[in-house]
Amino acid sequence: MATENPDRNLALELIRVTETAALAAAPWVGRGEKDLADKAAVEAMRQMINTVDMAGIVVIGEGEKDNAPMLHNGEQVGNGLGPACDVAVDPIDGTSLTSNGMDGAISVIALAPRGAMYDPNGAFYMNKIVTGPEAAHVIDLNASVADNIAAVAKAKNLAISDITVVVLNRPRHDQLIKEIRAAGARIKLIQDGDVAAAIETARPETGTDLLMGIGGTPEGVVTAAAMIALGGEIQGQIFVDGKAVGPVLRTKDLCNSDEVFLAATGITDGELVRGVRYTSYGAISQSIVMRGKSKTVRVIETEHHLK
Ligand code: FBP
Repeated sequence: MATENPDRNLALELIRVTETAALAAAPWVGRGEKDLADKAAVEAMRQMINTVDMAGIVVIGEGEKDNAPMLHNGEQVGNGLGPACDVAVDPIDGTSLTSNGMDGAISVIALAPRGAMYDPNGAFYMNKIVTGPEAAHVIDLNASVADNIAAVAKAKNLAISDITVVVLNRPRHDQLIKEIRAAGARIKLIQDGDVAAAIETARPETGTDLLMGIGGTPEGVVTAAAMIALGGEIQGQIFVDGKAVGPVLRTKDLCNSDEVFLAATGITDGELVRGVRYTSYGAISQSIVMRGKSKTVRVIETEHHLK
């Protein structure tokens, strides 16, 4: 029966889902085959997700049914025995990072009660600003880049020159990069993978304070689930044909519940989690799991005996 809220710590079950996907993707690291890497991760995630005690519906998935045979939007997942959930999956965030053997690729899943997650409805891009708990209350997507950086620096009791802003390395961000530099902050450019990068802004000692710029909308919803658990904030606005459309969406507009669960496992190394490493007996993975209601965050290293 799919009635109760997801109040068990499903995050611990979810970790097995992202671990399996990361282990399936890991053999493809650096092999130049991003589609095959993605396929392996999707198939693995699909098998394991159906063991989780939930009546899940994929809200953020691999796309529409026709071009995504598995984990497509609207698909029912889980064993049907637990709470009714919205499910966001990204079997690989950073398919190119994986195929090029570059840092920052993760496998991630998030759950929230049914109806809580924003449905991107095909809106691919979102202009985002993300920061962790210390500065969550001061960011404002409608304010200037310089004002946001100054506000975050003040809230964190840092100099502006100490602030590091993560930005996806895209030509569309040339102006943003100029404005960040003019404001006097540091920049970390990433090639892909703005979910891990966004979560890092809300984790201690990762060396990044803010994420800014246009990335995927589905990734924005996954980020919102993480910000609820971590006490951070995301604000985003849908972007179509180079223009902002609609209102600024805040964390709770993107994921409207504290009953969220998120698990992410590293495929390649990153500040958030380390990537899969092979050993004589199999492999070691590192994951982060979090629960919105209790705000518990666990970093879990798992030894997998594969042989
Ligand atoms: P994929 O792994 O699905 O390719 O996504 C990688 C990613 O970098 C996301 O993290 C990010 O939100 C989005 O792509 C940015 O889109 P684009 O590459 O079109 O700028």
